[in-house]
Amino acid sequence: MNKITLSSLRGFKRDAVKFSVVAAYDASFSRLLADAEVPVILVGDSLGMTVQGHASTVPVSVADVAYHTACVARGNQYSLIIGDLPFMSYTSVEQALDTSKQLMQAGAHMVKLEGGRWLSETFQALNAAGVPSCAHLGLTPQSVNKLGGYKVQGRDADEAQTILEDAIALEAAGADMLVLECVPSELAAKITHAVNIPVIGIGAGADTDAQVLVLHDMLGITPRAPKFSKNFLEGSHSILEAFERFVADVKDGHFPAEEHQFN
Ligand code: KIV
Repeated sequence: MNKITLSSLRGFKRDAVKFSVVAAYDASFSRLLADAEVPVILVGDSLGMTVQGHASTVPVSVADVAYHTACVARGNQYSLIIGDLPFMSYTSVEQALDTSKQLMQAGAHMVKLEGGRWLSETFQALNAAGVPSCAHLGLTPQSVNKLGGYKVQGRDADEAQTILEDAIALEAAGADMLVLECVPSELAAKITHAVNIPVIGIGAGADTDAQVLVLHDMLGITPRAPKFSKNFLEGSHSILEAFERFVADVKDGHFPAEEHQFN
């Protein structure tokens, strides 16, 4: 089993091999995810809700993400690990570089930032510094207070055009991957074809290059799991089997099904 690198992920997009991503936070689950051959683990700031019990991702600190990144890295020699830059930890290029340094030194192989083309200079600086980066567009949970809730984004034509243009601008600025969260499937398909970098969807339909789910949603731990998620533990004999089913269902296009999408 060869270690997953950025080149592997580019190869998946080139060869139209759909791949899976799980947001996870500790060494034990990280080891099981490696056993199930999940290519990418996101140490998401969703840990604020799933692990810390907060109502949003806003209270999560850089130290929190660095700690969980180090835990995930210790359990896994296979997957590519993405560290999430938390709320207000990348308000300037300098701050973004410093936060990224902390996450990369904790064991991340890539960092993720929420926001549109106003972050172009930051993505350029990360690129120049040799830090692989992932953009995050659509529903950006760190802005929940500005967005007025966890709502599908890009439903009207102007909003959809803005998200498409942001994706193109951030790829040009050096972003290596893109997460699209809670956007209509048609828009996600259009963006996935418009950019050359791998696009990871969550609530973004079946046409993105990859699918990400939050560990606690896919194991049925979250009390009211979102519409776009699926409990893979249901019908599985073990957590490992649940992860293996997720990998297989993404690869062969069975997940997400129609009921997990916004049209
Ligand atoms: O924090 C997280 O887990 C995320 C995913 C939901 C994409 O950003």
